Amino acid sequence: MARLRTELQRHEYLYYVLDQPEISDAAYDAMMGRLKELEALRPDLIAPDSPTQRVGGKPREGFVKVAHSSALLSLDNAYNEDELADFDRRVRELTDLSEVEYVCELKLDGLSMAVHYSEGRLARAVTRGDGQVGEDVTENARTIRSLPLKLREPALRAVEVRGEVIMTNAEFERLNRERAEQNLPQFANPRNSAAGSIRILEPWITASRRLDYSAYQLFFDGSPAAELHWEALEKLVALGFRVNPNRRLCRGLGGAREFIREWEHKRESLAYEIDGVVVKVNSIALQLQLGTTAKAPRWAIAYKYAAEQASTTVLDIGVQVGRTGMLTPVAHLEPVQVGGVTVSRATLHNEDEIARLGLQVGDRVLIERSGDVIPKVVRVEAPGEDRRPFVMPSHCPICGTAVVRQPGEVAWRCVNTNCPARLKESILHFSGRRVMNIDGLGEALVDQLVDRGLVKSVADLYDLRLEQLAELERMGEKSASNLLRNIGASRSAPLARLIHALGISFVGERTASILAEHFGSLDRLAGAPQEELEQAEEVGPRVAQAIRHFFDQPRNRELVERLRSAGLRFEEGPATRGRGERRAPLAGMTFVLTGKLERMAREEAAAKIEAAGGKVTNTVSKKTRYVVAGAEAGSKLDKARELGVEVIGEADLVRLLGSRE
Ligand code: IVH
Repeated sequence: MARLRTELQRHEYLYYVLDQPEISDAAYDAMMGRLKELEALRPDLIAPDSPTQRVGGKPREGFVKVAHSSALLSLDNAYNEDELADFDRRVRELTDLSEVEYVCELKLDGLSMAVHYSEGRLARAVTRGDGQVGEDVTENARTIRSLPLKLREPALRAVEVRGEVIMTNAEFERLNRERAEQNLPQFANPRNSAAGSIRILEPWITASRRLDYSAYQLFFDGSPAAELHWEALEKLVALGFRVNPNRRLCRGLGGAREFIREWEHKRESLAYEIDGVVVKVNSIALQLQLGTTAKAPRWAIAYKYAAEQASTTVLDIGVQVGRTGMLTPVAHLEPVQVGGVTVSRATLHNEDEIARLGLQVGDRVLIERSGDVIPKVVRVEAPGEDRRPFVMPSHCPICGTAVVRQPGEVAWRCVNTNCPARLKESILHFSGRRVMNIDGLGEALVDQLVDRGLVKSVADLYDLRLEQLAELERMGEKSASNLLRNIGASRSAPLARLIHALGISFVGERTASILAEHFGSLDRLAGAPQEELEQAEEVGPRVAQAIRHFFDQPRNRELVERLRSAGLRFEEGPATRGRGERRAPLAGMTFVLTGKLERMAREEAAAKIEAAGGKVTNTVSKKTRYVVAGAEAGSKLDKARELGVEVIGEADLVRLLGSRE
């Protein structure tokens, strides 16, 4: 057991901290399975830092308040280069140096948390609170995979680490979608979402919300652990912590300015939000010499980027009908540039949100965009002259069925399970790249398939014939046969993808892989009683109930039977999707890079594509999936057009690289 624990801890480190796994997910899972077996035989030997012990048992009554060993200070801000220069001047004056060495780091937009280790084991995690006193959230912190339960090096002294708890944009959006389906209020941004998640009394809920922890300060017995801040960061990595890789040792003000300018744009390609850059004096001796004010250290400053906001007019408020029938109001905006992207729509979440904003059609509003997050309306800036209130339609705008709002619910829903809007959304979900990956089944095509009655359920996709497809608009024989081939190929998609594709409430990509691994076949999953479903990792009563409910509906049972007859894979094969595949979103895709890229060098782009499982070649052929074109792209672009190979820009590539940083 001790050997398995150590090995598993090592592989978690390779995976979560260094991002360089050495073994397959299947091998990792097998090891974890073996450890669980042994622990079941000898519960008395279960170590508190065993990798199986991240999620503890009972919910708590409340959080205990704990005083910090020393105050968790905040940072002074600089909003422009002059204020940054003032900071540098102050530091130079106080230290009598002509040039100071700084460390520049990203300012992650989350909440700070101090974590204490005693004899190398995670002993206590405390939120910032008011800086003096925080709350003990140890049980929840243990569920954060990138936070080690045990240090990688023996520590004779008391170790305290400070850092930021964050949530990625993708996880934030997944969570909000899930909450919308359940009529729960939306989180406003990833930071609130992370803060809410770390303060939940039930640790298994925190566990289901994949949080991350990035460390930025290290203390041994209450004192700084190194002579240079840069070394402390390296020591943190050696101890097993994730430290944000986007950091740099900078010479003087000029170096810091360069880093700041670089990230002003690059930050958009990050998988999480930052609200600026932190510039810190590298020498700890100088830090001590500079000291702190009551509120913030004099040796660091937060350079804040201007929020990506813009004002525009709401031309109309439309309503979208989602896969579960939920009606979501959407603001149609006078197109406006926000952070280099044209925005013409913003989500309004639900009726209550519109009321909260006091928004009417015609109003001038402030909108905000950050990272990949869907633009949102921050507030009404000026009421429109001929403003008119938004009225939620009483009938589904698509199928005309009366909409209902359950008592206590926020959202209105179209309850017609055959509503074309719902069907279209389910088909798009089913065929998604990370789901059944049916390339070529885009929105325009799905509209036609549903409107012409060719597809009434996702199972009908497998009955489509060439001549039916070929006569659709913008569809030649060639694309029709490609589409059929892609539909055919999806039959052998791994079980996890199929489970995800079914669109069961709360069952996203990750839960689907867990279920596939746990049950091994769709039939076993479909037949499992609630209690058995809850045995699967990270599956709580709510999720279990949703799964049970799904398979209890005759309509869904019929769907499953039709998918079986269509020859889809119901059993977990040897090459399943585990942690690995989530890391290889570009598997099987060949790219050609041409022209000058702006955000990254070509070699860097190539390396990232390869790291994500893709291939990069020099010549455009029919096998090329995407040509990524930068400025002044030449003949390769012509070749791509000739062969009908899709050409994308750098921003699209960044998006494809997706949740990988
Ligand atoms: S250093 C005494 N480094 O920003 C200085 N803080 O506005 C301790 N933050 O409370 C902070 N990223 O929660 C530092 N790379 C980073 C950071 C960072 C985010 C947060 C932290 C702090 C707040 C201050």
